[in-house]
Amino acid sequence: MTRIYRYVIPYVIILATLNSHTHIRAVSSVVALGANLLCSRVPGLTARQRRICTKAPDAIVSISEGSRTGIRECQHQFRHHRWNCSLMAAGSGVFGHVVLIGSREAAYAYAVASAGVTYSVTASCARGNISTCGCDDRKRGRYSASGWKWGGCSADINFGIKFARKFVDAREVEGDARALMNLHNNNAGRRAVKKTLKTECKCHGVSGSCTMKTCWKTLPPFTNIGRHLLKKYNKAKPVIVHRSRRRSSPYLRLRRTKRRARRPRKSHLVYLEKSPNYCDMNLATGSLGTVGRRCNRTSRGGDGCDLLCCGRGYNTHQYTRKWQCNCKFYWCCYVHCHTCQEETEEYTCK
Ligand SMILES: *[C@@H]1O[C@H](CO)[C@@H](O)[C@H](O)[C@H]1NC(C)=O
Ligand SMILES: *[C@@H]1O[C@H](CO)[C@@H](O)[C@H](O)[C@H]1NC(C)=O
Ligand SMILES: *[C@@H]1O[C@H](CO)[C@@H](O)[C@H](O)[C@H]1NC(C)=O
Repeated sequence: MTRIYRYVIPYVIILATLNSHTHIRAVSSVVALGANLLCSRVPGLTARQRRICTKAPDAIVSISEGSRTGIRECQHQFRHHRWNCSLMAAGSGVFGHVVLIGSREAAYAYAVASAGVTYSVTASCARGNISTCGCDDRKRGRYSASGWKWGGCSADINFGIKFARKFVDAREVEGDARALMNLHNNNAGRRAVKKTLKTECKCHGVSGSCTMKTCWKTLPPFTNIGRHLLKKYNKAKPVIVHRSRRRSSPYLRLRRTKRRARRPRKSHLVYLEKSPNYCDMNLATGSLGTVGRRCNRTSRGGDGCDLLCCGRGYNTHQYTRKWQCNCKFYWCCYVHCHTCQEETEEYTCK
């Protein structure tokens, strides 16, 4: 059974489970159902993850929300790419998934899902939704070099990172090359959240004169993190496992390097295998192919029909688009609209 989950992001399965049992959505129902029961229902968890799940049932909702946020962002960032982050094959149920080889796409998916969990846990802490954490008060009351004061509720990113690491990394137990790759990218995802934290301030003083300013650390919109990681994806580094006789544990090192055994930077994404071109369906590599994808006939980017359809050409569908327009509000109380329509075309890859 564990083989099946090997190359799937395991907690994505949690969200599939939570979706299919819609009654296990909110914390209240988690508590009603009993943490033990919930945690035993989630397939693909390791014993350690199950223990964390049982001990912190209020956090498990954040974890599942966070991984969903991460994957949604992945799909947004890659909407114009041949690989569009469809990790779950639609309509194939809880166990439907797409296997991803150790490619740079897998690197992004793991990093962004891990970032999502970190983000969501940190945000829940600040909202007071997890009983064991809250705001980061370590700097509270202190003054910065430029004279403002730390106040408000600073995001406790260190708690978020620690919690997300404990849960997410607990899956990678094999100790082989792929586990090392996943661990590295999970960590890069968590660091990306910390790196993109913003400082927000509020002015005090007579009519907003800002004689006194208090500031706090806050999470940016999650899409900033998705963009940040996309830059890392574009510069992802190929790595191999280095096993030295003296060291007990193997580690990743850059593939092309003159100096021997140079390690990748912690903030970089790393991959083990070259990506397929994602033109044709091949579930063994995680490629769904681009047949049927919508493309843009005039775009020269990744969503253009030439690139997206891999030179196979495209089908044209004509249809009439209708929408409400010229709406007027009549006193009192109704709105009258016209129906506008337009002939449009849509293109899909052959
Ligand atoms: C978080 O807490 C707020 C109230 O503090 C509550 O309304 C909301 O439903 C909680 N969210 C989750 C996901 O539990
Ligand atoms: C992503 O690609 C798959 C496979 O080509 C397709 O079935 C799916 O509709 C695409 N998703 C989006 C959001 O375009
Ligand atoms: C297609 O691409 C062109 C050029 O990039 C852009 O202006 C246009 O809005 C796109 N059309 C759609 C339907 O996305």
